[in-house]
Amino acid sequence: MVAGTIICVYHQAILCHLSPTFITIMSTKAFAVIAGVGSGTGTSLARRFAKEYPIALLARNPESYEGLVQEINNSGGKAIGISTDASDEESVKSAFKTIAQKYEDAPCAAAIYNASGGFVRKPFLETQIEDLEKGWAVTVYGHIRAICYQRPD
Ligand SMILES: NC(=O)c1ccc[n+]([C@@H]2O[C@H](COP(=O)([O-])OP(=O)(O)OC[C@H]3O[C@@H](n4cnc5c(N)ncnc54)[C@H](OP(=O)(O)O)[C@@H]3O)[C@@H](O)[C@H]2O)c1
Repeated sequence: MVAGTIICVYHQAILCHLSPTFITIMSTKAFAVIAGVGSGTGTSLARRFAKEYPIALLARNPESYEGLVQEINNSGGKAIGISTDASDEESVKSAFKTIAQKYEDAPCAAAIYNASGGFVRKPFLETQIEDLEKGWAVTVYGHIRAICYQRPD
């Protein structure tokens, strides 16, 4: 219902050129966070951002990020994975606290929100409020928590 991947680039020193196939970033020691990592878009974004930044990968289940964290760390990058529910405020707060500890209060260069509340395709008259609620909770409110939480003052 509500779907997409949102990339917020915070650090002014970063030049970010985005196209479906190409992302170039000139950068600093700041970290990047990707909320909602799975085998699809999340993995591609993580591999690309890990070429320039230490990265933090968030998903609810460790199976969603463990292999990727290992792959990035084994290939010279730096990655941590944190089990996080992007639709839960306390979980998001706790994740950013862990990131601050692990990356020693480095600034956040870019925050990518890739979690989604799932895809529901139904005729309008058969659509229930519950069908929409998860989309709003994860895709919309989760984005505001996970991305805007890191927004510089
Ligand atoms: N791939 C496509 O064909 C396609 C098409 C149209 C739109 N999109 C949109 O593109 C984005 C990425 O889709 P994708 O399929 O490529 O994703 P993906 O990177 O393969 O996986 C997304 C990950 O988000 C995690 N996630 C879901 N709910 C979460 C929550 N509440 N908190 C934290 N993490 C959560 C899931 O892991 P856990 O279950 O472990 O949390 C999942 O593995 C989504 O917004 C999707 O709607 C994709």
